[in-house]
Amino acid sequence: MSVTVLIGAQWGDEGKGRFVDWLASEADIVARYSGGDNAGHTVAVGDTVYKMHLIPSGILHPNIVTVMGNGMVINPINLVKEIEYLQTMGITVTPDNLMISTRAHIITPAHIEMDKAKEKALGTEAIGTTLRGIGPAYYDKTGRKGVRMGQMLDLAAFANALEATIKESNDILARDGFTTIDIDASISAYLAVAERLRPYIKDTTVYLNQRLKNGAKVVSEGAQGTLLDIDHGSYPFVTSSSPTVGGALTGLGIGATHINRVIGIAKTFSTRVGGGPMPTEQENEIGRRLRGTGENFWDEFGTTTGRARRCGWLDTVMLRYAVAVNGFTELALTKLDVLSGFETLEIAVAYELDGQRMDYPPSTAEEQARAIPIYETVDGWQEDISGARSWSELPKNAQNYIQRIEALCDVPVSMVSVGPERSQLVVL
Ligand code: IMP
Repeated sequence: MSVTVLIGAQWGDEGKGRFVDWLASEADIVARYSGGDNAGHTVAVGDTVYKMHLIPSGILHPNIVTVMGNGMVINPINLVKEIEYLQTMGITVTPDNLMISTRAHIITPAHIEMDKAKEKALGTEAIGTTLRGIGPAYYDKTGRKGVRMGQMLDLAAFANALEATIKESNDILARDGFTTIDIDASISAYLAVAERLRPYIKDTTVYLNQRLKNGAKVVSEGAQGTLLDIDHGSYPFVTSSSPTVGGALTGLGIGATHINRVIGIAKTFSTRVGGGPMPTEQENEIGRRLRGTGENFWDEFGTTTGRARRCGWLDTVMLRYAVAVNGFTELALTKLDVLSGFETLEIAVAYELDGQRMDYPPSTAEEQARAIPIYETVDGWQEDISGARSWSELPKNAQNYIQRIEALCDVPVSMVSVGPERSQLVVL
């Protein structure tokens, strides 16, 4: 058993990239299993900040093979840009250390236009998507008419498949009064990137299973978070994939028996981008303080869209649900340093809904929006903890905060980050 799965335990943006980067130092392969360039993974190494949307964060380590699994939806234009960006930053990216699944689906310009059109049509009820074409690409996948990365291996057939899918979307866009896609320009742009990407496209399912059989250690990198899961999130304010543990299995094509660690990554407070319920949101000075000003790359503004994130107190009702759904063996907490300086901190320990106390979130977005958090107040700490590297260097109240999370979620905390840099980590 040699697969460690890292999963966002909240609404995404938990800081998964830095833990993937940390665990990659002991792995052979880092494999991403879901989503597309709606994700934004940031890793700081010394003074250099790397921002990735598609390529697994493990690419920063020499001698690691990174895999983009079959569960992903890939914008090939943006993928080529990302390969070039990393190469400019001095990172080696070749078909020897990056493999793309033949079975992963392609995001076309039509998907992006459809995403924009659907959001516009929803008006005030919009989901607040990243407008990267994610939903429409998964829609075509489950509708059994998507185009897959493997089709790039036969360029003539690939061009025909693209033409057919874009034409179909154009009909819908034109019918509803939206801008249509220039089919010829799209096909020639996609053929150009297909030429570049062809050497990277492999049967990654067979590759991963052969490597696992021979004892390789795999880190499976999640994107988004449990509370954005198509089944387990606040539907319809969710993404269109399964960021949860089941998604790791289907999104890579590996068996459950390979998994020995499932790490939930959670911020020490809550953030969410886009629409949908967020019971502990603080639209006040507390929320602004948690968000930061945007001067630093780790402040709460989206890596992909630049949108200000909604911020609020830690919600252990939602976190408990994430622990249950994923069977986390442990939690890794991020941004503990941001809580320094609060006199007291609030933790949501349960909800009240229609006069009933609830330990788990209700299943509909409408009920989640009406749920009233029941808070527990704990003492804060004033010290700057960004230099702490061990449990004993954390103030007593910070230790108490972590222990309270462990008790409320019934799962041990194994790592805590105290700053954005790779080394600002306390391993427990
Ligand atoms: P989509 O994935 O672009 O369709 O967006 C659906 C919802 O998921 C929106 O609320 C987005 O803001 C949210 N979302 C998608 N990807 C991320 C992410 O990487 N971090 C945080 N939120 C995300």
